[in-house]
Amino acid sequence: LTDLSTTCTVDGVRTQVNNWRTTGQSIAFVPTMGNLHAGHLSLVRLARSVADRVVVSVFVNPTQFGPGEDYARYPRTVQADRALLAGAGPMADLLFTPEESEIYPLGVEQAIRIVVPGLGDELCGASRPGHFEGVCSVVCRLLNVVSPDVLVLGEKDYQQLTLIRRMVLDLNMPVRVVSGPTQREPDGLAMSSRNQYLTPAERMLAPRLHATLETVRGALRAGRKDYEKLNALAIGTLERDGFKPDYVEIRRGVDLAVPGDDSAAELIVLAAAWLGRTRLIDNLRA
Ligand code: PAF
Repeated sequence: LTDLSTTCTVDGVRTQVNNWRTTGQSIAFVPTMGNLHAGHLSLVRLARSVADRVVVSVFVNPTQFGPGEDYARYPRTVQADRALLAGAGPMADLLFTPEESEIYPLGVEQAIRIVVPGLGDELCGASRPGHFEGVCSVVCRLLNVVSPDVLVLGEKDYQQLTLIRRMVLDLNMPVRVVSGPTQREPDGLAMSSRNQYLTPAERMLAPRLHATLETVRGALRAGRKDYEKLNALAIGTLERDGFKPDYVEIRRGVDLAVPGDDSAAELIVLAAAWLGRTRLIDNLRA
């Protein structure tokens, strides 16, 4: 195992990052909620390729979970996460595992929040009110602690990526956002910490979410522009396969706006669907 320094304090991160900065080294940051898998490791590898030093955080952020969501049962596996990072060779340089009071010093109730109008209430935001407010609030806090040159995020959470890019632009945050592609299981299922909630029977069905998105992508590539109809067909397919679809939507890749009929913009198809107690999300660029 490589030596992986770990800190759970804001001061600990700042001291280390300042040391690197004074010797002219650049810093990339990968925020996570832990329960790391190959998808996260691909982001750490990407971070390694764009900066001299890599900071990874593991923090299950309470403010991005709604009432009745899986905050309490979200897998907390910091020891295994640490071992995975350390065992992956020289990739991460610092692991930040803060307690809630480090990130929210006034407590969650008193926490200043970032409001995310518009897109924050659509797609996943429609069924998870306040989710993106919580995501942007914690990422802003983490960026204030780590002050990286580059923020590395996964494309699986495409709406999150889009909104964080928007926050960085709108708040003039001095960081470059770089994204890495979704990592998939051999059967197409997008890697996610939530996949482990699936029963064996649900796990067999789960790749059909990706398969359905591939069908929509095929139709878009064939030139179809009846987006509403394609969305509805995909929802019907998912229902027949045993999902409870939340949405399937074709949007513009650049800003997730609803595309016009004659638009030449690059498109993306996004979906969220429940399989039993598990909410899965995925997306594909057309
Ligand atoms: O994508 C995630 O794991 C989380 O939403 C993030 C970006 C770490 C913020 O808590």
